Amino acid sequence: MGSPEPTAIDWKKLREDFPILREQINGHPLIYFDNGATAQKPRPVLQAIQHYYEHENANVHRGIHELSNRATGAYEGARERVAKFLNARAAQEIIFTRGTTEGINLVAETWALNNLKRDDVILLSELEHHSNLVPWQMVAERTGAKLDYIPVTGDEGTLDLSRLDEQLARGVKLLSITHISNSMAVVNPVADICARARKHGVVTVIDAAQSAGHLPLDVQAVGCDFLAFSSHKICGPTGIGVLYGRHEILENLAPYQGGGEMISKVEYFKTTYNLPPHRFEAGTPHIEGVVGLRAAIDYLDAIGRDRIFAHDQELAEYCAERLREFPGIRIFGPKTGRAGLVSFVLPNAHALDVATMVDQRGVALRAGHHCNQPLMAKLGVPATLRASFYFYNTRDEVDRFIEILHKVNNLFAN
Ligand code: ALA
Repeated sequence: MGSPEPTAIDWKKLREDFPILREQINGHPLIYFDNGATAQKPRPVLQAIQHYYEHENANVHRGIHELSNRATGAYEGARERVAKFLNARAAQEIIFTRGTTEGINLVAETWALNNLKRDDVILLSELEHHSNLVPWQMVAERTGAKLDYIPVTGDEGTLDLSRLDEQLARGVKLLSITHISNSMAVVNPVADICARARKHGVVTVIDAAQSAGHLPLDVQAVGCDFLAFSSHKICGPTGIGVLYGRHEILENLAPYQGGGEMISKVEYFKTTYNLPPHRFEAGTPHIEGVVGLRAAIDYLDAIGRDRIFAHDQELAEYCAERLREFPGIRIFGPKTGRAGLVSFVLPNAHALDVATMVDQRGVALRAGHHCNQPLMAKLGVPATLRASFYFYNTRDEVDRFIEILHKVNNLFAN
């Protein structure tokens, strides 16, 4: 017997789980197209957090009382759940952080500062968000390591990987790269890139901020050493995120911050450290955040990240197609295989003005450099507009947005 047909998803009905989507913005129904910045939260996530505070709240790993056991169970159970979400081999490979930025900084402060020396090379791509760029510049300043970049080809935003092996052979010790570009909508072939890096003995870090909640993600298939993502971009709370680290690397890694929880034994002049992952989680953690993150993961997986990706991609391609109605528009991103967002520049209107004017009609867009200042400089644009989608967005919203954009653009036309 074959596997049963997956039940169809009623995408519009899912919207009812998100109270905020009923908000009126400046007297208009909200059209929330800023999911690349943060996603909205469904009721099960809000309820999980409330349930935690009403029935389980205590500190973790410390108490022997019942509430502490419940809180510890919720916290460590969520770690197991995240491991499954990423197909990590063990929960010990999952470190809770404040978000993608802290995950990358943790690798920079621990692995990189302890392993890199003068003239070693850190390889990044020209697509990187500031959070996957500035930490490495700081490491380079402190160690004397150098930076190199995989080039972007142009407005399509795809990477030129034709010289990757040559680049990797030139002293590269660490490669850190985004999975999905937050401004170019490019999905990088991270499994292929990591496989090539591994042949050169290079440690690999994946910035999965824009991908973790948007497509199925399997760290073993990707073959990376580290991978970071944030809860708030995948319908969970802010202030919590995940760093996956391959166990063989984590077990030899120096601690990140010092304090309670990360120790095994402390004497006045000496400390022995806890095992991973607790070695990297000093202090009382963001338990409520972890509980909310787990609820978000359960929610997304009940829909299916493959279906979410297909839905968001279709919406982004439809939006890009409708945007071509605007003469002289510059649309960024690949011709095919675009992730669920579209960045663009209108010829006669500044992005920030347009974002302000569409907001007056209820549309939330991001305008600016998207924390990609070097990329924007390379493309020769000070700012772009970005519409970024999630599974609760609809084609009707895209149509309404295009109608609003025509009205706004007409004001700039003469
Ligand atoms: N990294 C987030 C974005 O692209 C904030 O909007």
